[in-house]
Amino acid sequence: MDRIDVILVEPIAEIQPTIYGHFAEHLGECIYGGIWVGEDSTIPNQGGIRLDVVRALSRMRPAVIRWPGGCFADDYHWQDGIGPRAQRPRRVNLHWGEVIETNAFGTEEFIRLCRLVGAAPYICGNVGSGSPREMRDWIEYCNFAGGSTWSEARAANGSSQPHDVTYWGIGNENWGCGGHFTPDDYATEYRRFATFAWSFGGKPIYRIACGPNGNDADWTRRFFTKLRRDYGRAPSIEGYAAHYYCGTAGTATEYTVDQWYELLDKALRMEELVVQQRAVMDTFDPKRSIGLIVDEWGTWHPPAEGRNPRFLWQQNTVRDALVAALTLNIFNNHADKVVMTNIAQAINVLQAVILTEGDKMLVTPTGHVYEMYAPHQGAQAVRTVLQTSAIEYGGQGRRVPQLSASGSQHENNLTLTLVNTHASAPLEVEIRLHGAEADGASGVVLRAADIHAHNTFAAPELVHPVAATPPAVSKGVLHAELSPASVTRLDVALT
Ligand code: AHR
Repeated sequence: MDRIDVILVEPIAEIQPTIYGHFAEHLGECIYGGIWVGEDSTIPNQGGIRLDVVRALSRMRPAVIRWPGGCFADDYHWQDGIGPRAQRPRRVNLHWGEVIETNAFGTEEFIRLCRLVGAAPYICGNVGSGSPREMRDWIEYCNFAGGSTWSEARAANGSSQPHDVTYWGIGNENWGCGGHFTPDDYATEYRRFATFAWSFGGKPIYRIACGPNGNDADWTRRFFTKLRRDYGRAPSIEGYAAHYYCGTAGTATEYTVDQWYELLDKALRMEELVVQQRAVMDTFDPKRSIGLIVDEWGTWHPPAEGRNPRFLWQQNTVRDALVAALTLNIFNNHADKVVMTNIAQAINVLQAVILTEGDKMLVTPTGHVYEMYAPHQGAQAVRTVLQTSAIEYGGQGRRVPQLSASGSQHENNLTLTLVNTHASAPLEVEIRLHGAEADGASGVVLRAADIHAHNTFAAPELVHPVAATPPAVSKGVLHAELSPASVTRLDVALT
């Protein structure tokens, strides 16, 4: 039997709700079709934004949404996306299939989406092909109260009140599609852009620098060395964002049992990234005033047959759900190191939480994990100590732990999220609390009889959470049985 000790007397840190963030890029059918259908659509919408998606996303409590890219961001000129829609320019979307970008969805529409789902907006600026002036003007348009040309333009576009956008990315993947900079050159660019990324009216602004591709310590060291040491007094930097895609093993829906474990194993490498990147940052920023962010992460499967390969559309099975659950457990367990993350991407792209097709919509198994994990947001992460066995796979001594867990406390409630990675065996777990007593528990579980199970428009709810058998409580110890290949949330009442 596996065992979890929950050390309630050792809180880690508050789980920032922004750890449960999303990302929506002008890519494939994420924005057009997925979010934006236009005011004249027969699909029910509010101001052009589809309401089925708003309802489904709201249930996941999206704390923050990053937009407009991704690679798209460094080729996007925000002034194209404001004003009367019929007059907006039509551009070619360079990175994502050279499709025509109508600019129907721009800043006002993005802010509307955020307000509808209760998310904070996070706008990624254009460093690669833009200018500090362009970004400064965008911030003024969003945040300046009134009286300037840009704030009046906002009012003319229907928003007399400022949007108060706090989160601003200074470019995206500037080591790649965002300009192919070296870390040293990017530090120079960062300095220029961040100087003019202004806190208009003294409103707080959170500038996010482009971090490494995966766990690249060299990028981080060189960036901060140039920014902090070579330049001396640097402009502000509040956040630093890495990207990590765990990729694939097999395809989105076809994989062997070994490939099931292989992908989970790759997902678990997120922990190394978080610990090691934070350790490098600590050498420059020991007080942790700069937040570590992972603003793109998730699975990336081979293109689905019959789809435009540049649209990055992929199915999402119970395996993707476990990738999400394992990764979110890592973020919760390192709530003292991670301040924001954004799964890629919200709708119809990569590890989407929602898929749409015409007027149909479904929540993917990954989306259901976000619904299940929502109670962690804003709660106090607590330490969980695990005794578990490892599952060997692939015949080369590679191993995946069978159990993953994270816990958080809010008042007298303890939320535990547990993953049984075993493809076919259930797992009995004994849970001991230290610092409080359990006064009953209930649970919800996401599981499937087949490790390839996924939701389709013909069967949109094949994989969805159901009530779990409540764990037995005896002498203060909880006993739970976790289904094979499952994600479970236990809600424990504490005395
Ligand atoms: O999420 C898809 C793409 O992946 C993003 O545009 C880019 O930032 C990353 O390489």
